Amino acid sequence: MKKTIFKNYEEMSTAAANIVAAAIGAKPNIVLGLPTGSTPCGMYSNLVAMHKAGKLDFSQVKSFNLDEYVGLQENHNQSYRFFMQTQLFNHVNILPQNTYVPSGTAKNLEEAAALFDKKIEEEGGIDLFVLGIGANGHIGFNEPAASMPAYTHVVDLTKQTIEDNARAFFGGNMKAVPKKAITQGLATILQAKKIILLASGKSKAAAIESIDKKILTLNCPATMLHLHNNVELLVCN
Ligand code: PGA
Repeated sequence: MKKTIFKNYEEMSTAAANIVAAAIGAKPNIVLGLPTGSTPCGMYSNLVAMHKAGKLDFSQVKSFNLDEYVGLQENHNQSYRFFMQTQLFNHVNILPQNTYVPSGTAKNLEEAAALFDKKIEEEGGIDLFVLGIGANGHIGFNEPAASMPAYTHVVDLTKQTIEDNARAFFGGNMKAVPKKAITQGLATILQAKKIILLASGKSKAAAIESIDKKILTLNCPATMLHLHNNVELLVCN
C-alpha cells in the first residue's frame, strides 16, 4: 500500500484529480467508483476545471457511487445524488445514464442493492475507486461492527451518525435525518482494480494510524484495504 502525505488539502486534491484524469486518459470508457463528503470536493472542482479547459472528456465515463440515504428523493439537497450532480455531474459531459448512485427510494431496497452490484459487474467492474474515510475508519456506510454484509446492502445508521447529521445538515432536526442508508459493501469495493483513499485533517489521523498498523479489524473497516494489492493513500493534515 502506497501512502503519500501532502503539505495541504489543495495539493492532495490536485494529486487525486491528476490520478483520475490520467486514468480517464488511459481508458476513456473507464468505470469509476466515487465518494461524497467534504474531502473529495477539491478533487471534483479540479476535475471540473480540467474539463472546462478542454483537457478532460467524460463522454464515455461511467460512475458508481458508494452510498445514498434511504428515503431522500434524488433532488433533496442532502441526498448524495444531489451532491454528485452539483459537485461534478452537472459541470462535465458525463452522460446522465452513465451515473449510478444507489437508489434510496426503491420499493425493494435489498433488490435494488443486489441489482447495483450486478450492474457494476455488467459494466466490467470498477477500474478506479476513489474513497473517503470516516474518523472511525468507516468506508461508505460500512461502520465499525462485529460483522457486516459483504456486498451492497441496506444499513441502519448509528445513533451517533444520526445525531451528527442532524447537527451538521438538517438544522438540528433529528426527525428529518434518514435512519437508514444503502452502501456498497467492502467486498464490492475491494473488487475495484485500483483504489485511492483521500484523508484530510487531524480528525482522520487515528483511522490512518489504524491502517498503518497493518492489522485487519472490522473495528476500523478501512484496514480491510490491506486485502487489496493496488491501494494508494493520499493524506494531508
Ligand atoms: P468527509 O466524510 O469527507 O466529509 O470527512 C468522509 C466519510 O465519512 O467517508
